[in-house]
Amino acid sequence: MITIRGLHKYYGENHLFRGIDLDVEKGQVVVLIGPSGSGKSTFLRCVNGLEYFQDGEVTVNGIKLHSINRKRPARADREAMRQVRLKVGMVFQQFNLFPHMTALENIIEAPMRVLKVEKNTAINTALALLRRVNVEHKAESYPDELSGGEQQRVAIARALAMKPEAMLFDEPTSSLDPEMVGEVLSVIRDLVNDGMTTVIATHVMEFAREVADTVVVFDKGEIVETGPPEEIFNTPKTDRTRAFLSRILKR
Ligand SMILES: Nc1ncnc2c1ncn2[C@@H]1O[C@H](COP(=O)(O)OP(=O)(O)OP(=O)(O)O)[C@@H](O)[C@H]1O
Ligand SMILES: [Mg+2]
Repeated sequence: MITIRGLHKYYGENHLFRGIDLDVEKGQVVVLIGPSGSGKSTFLRCVNGLEYFQDGEVTVNGIKLHSINRKRPARADREAMRQVRLKVGMVFQQFNLFPHMTALENIIEAPMRVLKVEKNTAINTALALLRRVNVEHKAESYPDELSGGEQQRVAIARALAMKPEAMLFDEPTSSLDPEMVGEVLSVIRDLVNDGMTTVIATHVMEFAREVADTVVVFDKGEIVETGPPEEIFNTPKTDRTRAFLSRILKR
């Protein structure tokens, strides 16, 4: 479903990724962990066609993203990035809802504008999605009238309204008050149980352990270890994984 081969990414002089490879199979749940600044967000952004990279290849659902070495990417490359963004839903730490639209309007906007879905159909789908994430009673509320957990669940519904083939979550609970973390994780858990292909960057280790088929440990732009959660958390193979886990689990 998602293949990454030899991914190189520079931010100016900073050579962050030096040839990353990773495969995500259909229906698989891959959880990215690792220290702050290790490249988890950048990696997700490269996979979702939100970020250019300088070498290697990313294939998502048959669409190839090429490395871009020019100042101006070719039209075909930009079109491929757009296609990937249409097929892969992304949920960010900071919800990113449109502040001037109600929850419902946030959800119907892209299906109507981009997929040309008819308004009534879009509304019915949106209401069903709001029900699915347990915020149907807030359909007419604006983002600033919603709690963080509610906003994040609307953001998830908005991504799902585009009928994505895969979902990427970048620390979906890190800007939430502790009592709201559970409700958002439970929505993600349901999606995963429904078989959604999912990649999640998270600092919540218990959640990683619970939902992941594969855990990927990033450190300084490298994948230092990949494996099933039991292996990563119980018998990590590298010193860098051990060091990271002992730091984060101590907190
Ligand atoms: N737009 C940017 N311009 C320049 N450097 C960037 C940019 N975005 C990220 N970086 C750098 O790339 C590295 C990886 O950052 P990234 O945000 O991907 O890490 P992360 O693993 O998601 O960290 P966190 O756990 O704090 O979210 C960092 O050194 C960061 O400073
Ligand atoms: Mg990040």
